[in-house]
Formats: sequence, structure tokens, C-alpha cells
Amino acid sequence: MKESAPARLLMCPPDHYNVSYEINPWMSLTRPVVAANAVRQWQELYRVLTTTIGVEVELISPVEGLPDLVFTANAGLVWGRTLILSNFRFKERAGEAPVFSAWFAEKGYEVVRLPADCSFEGEGDILPLGEVLVGGYRFRSDLRSHRLVAEITGAKVISLELSDPYFYHLDTCFWPITDELAFYYPGAFEACGRRLLQEHVPELVPVSRHDALLFGCNSVNVGNQVVLNAGCRGLLGKLRNWGYEVHEVDLSEFIKAGGSAKCLTLFLSRR
Ligand code: ARG
Repeated sequence: MKESAPARLLMCPPDHYNVSYEINPWMSLTRPVVAANAVRQWQELYRVLTTTIGVEVELISPVEGLPDLVFTANAGLVWGRTLILSNFRFKERAGEAPVFSAWFAEKGYEVVRLPADCSFEGEGDILPLGEVLVGGYRFRSDLRSHRLVAEITGAKVISLELSDPYFYHLDTCFWPITDELAFYYPGAFEACGRRLLQEHVPELVPVSRHDALLFGCNSVNVGNQVVLNAGCRGLLGKLRNWGYEVHEVDLSEFIKAGGSAKCLTLFLSRR
């Protein structure tokens, strides 16, 4: 059997990472980032992904004044050799879009833009589940962005309204692991969204509030290898019982900005 190519991710070193504004309830200027710890935690995530799991990681250069550039999941949605570029909701992050756009254009991707008045925050709010895309809207991405992404990709998008500002991006409360299996935090969705998930995901497993607040749903998996923020005990046990190999990495410095493992990575290609 032909070996499939390894998964490829995009990451951004945290040289200029900080909490210097507040655009979600996790961020507080009174809780500054300890830079040395952030660097250590990010390097450990990078080491586990590349050395332990064997993922290929490409790096985009950090830019001074763009502290959230580390959250590469928000660059856009990669679809084959196309990047559907993000339109950030807040002006504080708007400067990231041209940086991501230039990186992808330089690598030969076609960069597609949505209309300027349509907010869209990339893989933070839209994730593949088998053949379909699952999208979150309200806090960061507009519902309309889902329709446009469906038109561009030709994929069906299932739109879910988010309900809790602590879980402002879909990838903070929904984690599709395989075509059939996904974890979610029910408290982050409106009733209609929960019903849609139940209809579309054959094996939909709820995560406790405790683990959700530790960004348990913001994990990265490549095959049966999983990277999880430290401390998600319920989730860890379940994953291990099902035969997943779980690597815990302490990402507490990034939770200060409202992000964890998944936010720090963007899939350029899945295996
Ligand atoms: N501080 C960033 C923001 O509020 C964190 C982004 C987290 N990214 C994600 N994919 N959930 O925009």
C-alpha cells in the first residue's frame, strides 16, 4: 500500500506573542504573558508535533505588533492549493491578514478573499468532518461567510450558532477527530446547533465544562496521535481507552489569550 504523505501544519513562533488588548473574555491586560514560559511551551508543542508525531511544520515569521499571529488557525481555510483568507472581526487582528496572504501567495497558493464586510476567521470557525465542513458563527465569523465558503469549495457547510463568549471560535468547543467521531462542549451551542451536530456526527461525545475550559476541544490529532493541553483528565481517560496516544503539553500561557494547541496550528494538508 502506498504510504500517504505526512500531515503538514503552519505555525508561528511566539517571539512577539503577548496579551496587549482584550478581544475575548480570556484576555486581560492584568494577566500578562510570561514570555519565557510561552516560548518554552510553544517549543514543546513544536517538538511533540515534529519529533514525536512526525508532522511537517512550516513556519511563518513573527511580526512585531501582531501578538496573535501565533494563532495560525485564524489565517483562513486551506482548501487544496487555495487559501480562503480570513477577514478578522477586530481591528486589532486585521493586520495579520496581509501577512498570511503574502506567505501563502509566496508558496504558490491562490488566495481568495471574501467581501470586506463579511467576517471570517478561518479554521478557528470552520472545520472539516469527512466530506462536509462544520462552521461556527456569531462572535467572529458571519453566517454569510459559510455560504461563501460553500460556494468556493463546493462542500456542504453545516452552520452552528455559538452561544458562549468564552467559546467564541468553533475550534474551542468542537473537535472532529475522524469522519465519524467528534468531541464537543454542549454548553457552547444553541439548541439548534446541538441538534444539527447530533444529526451529522455518528459518534458525538460531550466534554465536561472543566475540560472545555482547559481547551480540551482545542486539541490537534494526526491519526491516533493527539496533542492535548495539560489537565483535561476526563478527556484524557476517554482518549486513552479508545487507543489514542495522548501527548499532554502545558499551554497555559496561550490560554491567557484564549487559545491552545489547535489555535496554534493550521492544517496545510491532512494525512
Ligand atoms: N487572542 C486571539 C483572539 O481572540 C486568540 C485566537 C484563538 N484562535 C482560535 N483558533 N481559537 O482572536
